[in-house]
Amino acid sequence: MSKTQVQEQFGKTAAFYLTSEPHAKGASLERLVELTAPQKDWRALDVATGGGHVAYTFAPHVARVWATDITQEMLDMVKKEAEKRGLANVRTAYAKAEVLPFDEETFDLVTCRIAPHHFDSIPAFLAEVHRVLKPGGVLALVDNVVPAGSVGDYVNAFERLRDPSHLRAWTMDEWREALAASGLKAVHEEQMYKTMVFKNWAARYDGVMQGLLRAMLTQVTPEVKAVLAPAEKDGDFTFRLCEGVFIAKRG
Ligand SMILES: C[S@@+](CC[C@H](N)C(=O)[O-])C[C@H]1O[C@@H](n2cnc3c(N)ncnc32)[C@H](O)[C@@H]1O
Repeated sequence: MSKTQVQEQFGKTAAFYLTSEPHAKGASLERLVELTAPQKDWRALDVATGGGHVAYTFAPHVARVWATDITQEMLDMVKKEAEKRGLANVRTAYAKAEVLPFDEETFDLVTCRIAPHHFDSIPAFLAEVHRVLKPGGVLALVDNVVPAGSVGDYVNAFERLRDPSHLRAWTMDEWREALAASGLKAVHEEQMYKTMVFKNWAARYDGVMQGLLRAMLTQVTPEVKAVLAPAEKDGDFTFRLCEGVFIAKRG
């Protein structure tokens, strides 16, 4: 079977996601633990686990974590890393977010962080989350969010230029509506900014492409500048992205 664009892209860059600071150390990791208060007997599912950071963070708090993804290189890496960290309750499995290979009412907690902007269908993903959660089960979701309108379109185009598998980050309103439509009840939401170090974020490219990406951050309207906040700081060129955090429950 030929690889999809997502599998190509993430297969090549899997190692980056194990060490990338916004993924490995991002503030939203511990925040999800605070917001969900995981219990020792919980069965958890992490969808689109990437470098596995949500799975490693929750593993000490629950009975079992399934770390799932569609990129085999990610799953191989997470299996090894979980062993290295002594996390014996982490299991890995191939799972497409829109067609989860688990029975209904299997999980107390489903997590998904910094990934839905790659999914073919977020509504299909949410329908699957609803199906595999036990009644009363919790979805803890984090994804990059953008403002509505042309500024949001610009931020998505900027992200897509670096990573063609970035389909579209949603607005907070789009998430609210999709969660309500899926039958999951949002019980908490917040936004968190994360600082991106340009040289790390763009490291996969040569000078020409880096120049283009940098120009997309600097030669912009004041409205875009206010959102991405490009800045030179301590010799580093940085900008910021916004994460939307949602905690939702199945009734
Ligand atoms: C940025 S990484 C995820 C980061 C990770 N969740 C974390 O918190 O560090 C995005 C991941 O989404 C996976 N992915 C993309 N589309 C997917 C889909 N439809 N179903 C499952 N995984 C998908 C990719 O293979 C990739 O590993």
